Amino acid sequence: MGSSNNQTILVTGGAGFIGTHTVVQLLNDGYNVSIIDNFDNSVMEAVIRIREVVGPQLSNNLEFTQGDLRNKDDLENLFSKTKFDAVIHFAGLKAVGESVANPRRYFDFNLIGTINLYQVMAKYNCKKMVFSSSATVYGQPETIPCVEDFKLQAMNPYGRTKLFLEEIARDIQKAEPEWKIILLRYFNPVGAHESGKLGEDPRGIPNNLMPYIQQVAVGRLPELNVYGHDYPTKDGSAIRDYIHVMDLADGHIAALRKLFTTENLGCTAYNLGTGHGTSVFEMVTAFEKASGKKIPIKLCPRRPGDATEVYASTEKAEKELGWKAKYGVEEMCRDQWNWAKNNPWGYKRKSLE
Ligand code: NAD
Ligand code: UFG
Repeated sequence: MGSSNNQTILVTGGAGFIGTHTVVQLLNDGYNVSIIDNFDNSVMEAVIRIREVVGPQLSNNLEFTQGDLRNKDDLENLFSKTKFDAVIHFAGLKAVGESVANPRRYFDFNLIGTINLYQVMAKYNCKKMVFSSSATVYGQPETIPCVEDFKLQAMNPYGRTKLFLEEIARDIQKAEPEWKIILLRYFNPVGAHESGKLGEDPRGIPNNLMPYIQQVAVGRLPELNVYGHDYPTKDGSAIRDYIHVMDLADGHIAALRKLFTTENLGCTAYNLGTGHGTSVFEMVTAFEKASGKKIPIKLCPRRPGDATEVYASTEKAEKELGWKAKYGVEEMCRDQWNWAKNNPWGYKRKSLE
């Protein structure tokens, strides 16, 4: 591999939704990138699409390894061959409901995988890390917007893994001050790459709002269940901070820059959100407008554990990372629809699994 800025970044989970978009931006920015992914929630086609999007030349700066973070040898093999300047760590499981039903699987993937990664990074003296955290660590926030120094709280086993992994990062950095660790707390990532070649491709019935709406729009699902229409909000539906996945990808580049340029950074958290709240009904309307498709809805009771209104304070990321989200809900829906209409079955070219 040989690129313009000569830094090499290991991206764990780089074949996944946020990973693919971030890898594209890293390659466009001149980094060498090495992905490790076990395809637990992704497919090789996603890596092929990354190469299509960046073109043959930048593609030379991308390496892919099929491997599992729970298997330390897979990590040893990578680190013994390549000197990584930093790691962006996406690999993990993220479905709240599944984590309640099967917490051991979540502790295995998220905790063991990440602990292995820290051990091998330390052994090979790679001590710069960008970690995928989540707004879930704010639990049911008492006030909004969520500010990074709020009290943290886990609502379910998935959230507990993110909370523990934040604590683990803080402990490691405190004991070994040469580590620099940035914890990125994502709000609600949606949208897709503007090419329509990369996007979110969940297995089975989607848990999250936008992939569900998308599958209704292409005829894979009959209607959207709206969970809760009696919230104390402007239209009765719950409010979230949706962020375009390309903005999120750029947030990772800003975080890397911060890691490489700041002495004594320590371990610090940043929200990646837009700072704006949008209701479920508003998202439905925006998607209908972008797609020209009617999304039939069914009003359902609230989903247990859901917060009424969550959105980010964006001040810290703006001030310290020099990063701010550029896209609004209109662009999120436009790009998500472009992905959906070109890939109604996701990366699988023909029919449902
Ligand atoms: P994703 O499932 O699309 O991507 C995760 C990738 O990691 C997948 O390609 C999967 O195959 C891989 N992976 C999982 N376990 C692995 C292991 N043990 N070894 C190697 N590869 C493994 O998810 P995403 O939406 O891209 O999320 C990325 C990260 O961001 C996750 O850590 C997630 O918890 C976090 N996050 C996501 C959201 C969201 O709504 N998408 C919100 C907040 C935080
Ligand atoms: N919703 C519906 N119908 C659906 C799916 C969702 O009405 O079919 C509603 C939910 O009730 C909620 C809103 O749409 O009010 C957003 O729901 P998502 O599941 O898309 O997102 P959440 O904010 O509930 O959770 C997401 C991730 C979590 C993460 C959290 C904070 O799924 O993993 O953001 O980052 F913890």
